[in-house]
Amino acid sequence: MNQPEISQPVFLCGMMGAGKSTIGKLLAKKLDKPFLDLDRFIEEDTGMSIPEIFAEKGEKEFRNIERQLLKQLSQSTQGVVALGGGSLQNQHLTNHIKKNGLLVFLDVPVTELVNRLRSSENRPMLSGSDTKTKITTLLEDRLPFYQQAHIIMKTGNLIEEEVVKKLFKKLQMYER
Ligand code: S3P
Repeated sequence: MNQPEISQPVFLCGMMGAGKSTIGKLLAKKLDKPFLDLDRFIEEDTGMSIPEIFAEKGEKEFRNIERQLLKQLSQSTQGVVALGGGSLQNQHLTNHIKKNGLLVFLDVPVTELVNRLRSSENRPMLSGSDTKTKITTLLEDRLPFYQQAHIIMKTGNLIEEEVVKKLFKKLQMYER
């Protein structure tokens, strides 16, 4: 039996450390589609690294740039896009993404995120207070948006290939 193609762009959301880029790259390969990372897109467009943007322009301006570039990208991409952890900034933007493709939430428990992020050095949102407190607070604010995703993938302790396989099956259900 021929497997139906995934005709819509796929947007991966979830916290820092959820594996959006890793899973996104593997998924894009499986779907034979381009992979795009919103953070890299921002860095290319501005000519600055994410930490540099935060340090020189502040979080508010980073969010403005992120919002504008995400709107632009979501209308043009045909591939798999790894969003930044804070990209679903408001309901308007969340609706916009969902109108342009399939939104997937990579749901990873806080304890696992903290383990993965403990030694992370290039994430300005984690500077200052301890990682667990920061992640818990950010997640509380973001969950209402993440949970509106078409597909919620609880990755738990699954290996990456298994996540991609399961996700692929769930995406196919939107093609029938
Ligand atoms: C952020 C997550 C980062 C990046 C920026 C802000 C956030 O992306 O966009 O540092 O607010 O959660 P990743 O989720 O890819 O780490």
